[in-house]
Amino acid sequence: MFVFKAAVVGAGTMGGEIAQTIANADIPVVLKDVDQQFVDQGLEKARSLWQNRVDQGKMEPAELERKHGLITGTTGYGDFGDVDFVIEAVPERMEIKQAVFSELDEVTAGHAVLSSNTSSLSITEMGEATSRPDKVVGFHFFFPASVMRLIEVIEGDDTSPETVRAAMSFAQSVRKVPIRCVEAPGFVVNRILNSSVSELWRFQEETGADVKEVDRIVSDSKAAPMGPFFLTDLLGLDVTVHVAEYLAEAYGDRFYVHKRMRELVAEGNLGAKTGRGFYEHGN
Ligand SMILES: NC(=O)c1ccc[n+]([C@@H]2O[C@H](COP(=O)([O-])OP(=O)(O)OC[C@H]3O[C@@H](n4cnc5c(N)ncnc54)[C@H](O)[C@@H]3O)[C@@H](O)[C@H]2O)c1
Repeated sequence: MFVFKAAVVGAGTMGGEIAQTIANADIPVVLKDVDQQFVDQGLEKARSLWQNRVDQGKMEPAELERKHGLITGTTGYGDFGDVDFVIEAVPERMEIKQAVFSELDEVTAGHAVLSSNTSSLSITEMGEATSRPDKVVGFHFFFPASVMRLIEVIEGDDTSPETVRAAMSFAQSVRKVPIRCVEAPGFVVNRILNSSVSELWRFQEETGADVKEVDRIVSDSKAAPMGPFFLTDLLGLDVTVHVAEYLAEAYGDRFYVHKRMRELVAEGNLGAKTGRGFYEHGN
């Protein structure tokens, strides 16, 4: 299946960059959120990524405008009728995902593939909210979506082989490297990532080590590009806690849920997107 036009639902931490990645491959894309303020933030995020290239002399300003013009920001479903491939990137809660999938089923043409950027939830259950579970698939980008090359293509129980092929091929069209996986908790990458980061989180809470010091040592040692606490601030503490809880539930206490992270979420401090997490972030 050729994707002439795509759509992204949810213009948050992931959605804006996913739309930018698609438009950067010269594919028109609709970017929808519930509020114009979030749509504008997503469009601004996309612009800033291209602006960096302009500032480095790697892109002409006119090319920035042309690519940015391929993204249509909206709060409604009016532009979804001729979309071939949708990526849902709304908060990691099944009831929100199912409501969005049910709406997408109504507003898109029957051939359209409906995919989810979920980090952990069941693709099969999202498919159940539609009349086309065979066309529902996981399409999991990694943060930051404009940079990270991998996409996990996740098969639900009802996902058809054609849909998996369409997702693999669309991932390559947007210059990513797809891997196929089944619907196991954490899929592939989060299972690996969380098992190593769990040990750091556990160590920090058991010893009371300063989180900034832990981050400094990890990044100074070049074990990772940035420390685990700064990274989770950027990813969103709510998303991180959700994945950690899900993995601990699925695999037991070899996966750790950081208690202070949970408290920060309960306080509404979700990291960079709310301005405060383990660190203060200027917005
Ligand atoms: N943050 C990450 O690092 C990361 C990485 C990979 C995958 N994911 C997954 O991507 C999804 C989105 O995560 P995020 O971090 O971008 O979340 P986020 O909270 O930053 O953004 C979610 C956006 O969805 C919007 N939204 C809520 N309900 C909506 C609706 N009904 N219709 C349209 N928009 C709606 C919100 O207004 C918000 O702008 C989650 O499933 C998450 O697990 C996140």
